[in-house]
Amino acid sequence: MKKLIIAALALAAFSAPLMAAENGPIGIITAMSNELSLLLENAEITDTETIGGVDYNIGTLEGQDVVLVKAGIGKIMAAAGAATLINEFDVSSIIFTGIAGGVGDETEVMDIVVSTDLVVHDYGDMTNDGFVWDAIAGTDNGRIPADPALSDLAYNAAVEVVGEDSAFKGNIATGDQFVASESYVKYLQDSFNSLACEMEGAAVALVAYNYGVPFVVIRCMSDKADGLAHDSYANFGDTAADNSASIVMTMLQEM
Ligand code: ADE
Repeated sequence: MKKLIIAALALAAFSAPLMAAENGPIGIITAMSNELSLLLENAEITDTETIGGVDYNIGTLEGQDVVLVKAGIGKIMAAAGAATLINEFDVSSIIFTGIAGGVGDETEVMDIVVSTDLVVHDYGDMTNDGFVWDAIAGTDNGRIPADPALSDLAYNAAVEVVGEDSAFKGNIATGDQFVASESYVKYLQDSFNSLACEMEGAAVALVAYNYGVPFVVIRCMSDKADGLAHDSYANFGDTAADNSASIVMTMLQEM
């Protein structure tokens, strides 16, 4: 009997959900330098640790303890960055900030999309009939839910910074592709009801979700993910990146 109780206790300990360090710093992650620059300019950085070739900037921003990181482009670097923020810096929550392609008919360039949930749009089977999307293991129908309280906080900050008409909340689709195709935009709308597409959010989301760390993704649209996307991205990318970072700073004031 004693052995049984010990075994049950051991099992309970192993299967208990991992919880975020409540008092840890807030991890703020981006893919590119222009998405981090405004945050770095406004932060007081006290230390920088380089792990896996990536710089983790430790300091304060808007009165909050933060770790700021430009993790790199795409799902692999994003997942590695999120795991490092959690395992090395014990972050209490993760905010992803950056730019994206607008997928919703209503999401225009410079609009903000805050994640309610994310999907990996390029995960699935390559068949003789072409690509067939599949729900990534460990998710509910492939959707990774963002933390509702953080989403609300981010959305309210977005409304404060850009106004209600330019702030949206909804699904963000992530894949290792820069989308510049009207037909693929239609596919993302029809399949996932997505409002934005980008290349990192769901990777951060899945890692954070599995560790029990609250997260949200905030994106400002640099383009419409259509045939003009590359030009639009080049023209509006830096300003869009700053807009998203401004929303993060407004959000930090409320946390
Ligand atoms: N980031 C900004 N625009 C994008 C697009 N059109 N596709 C993927 N990622 C993006």
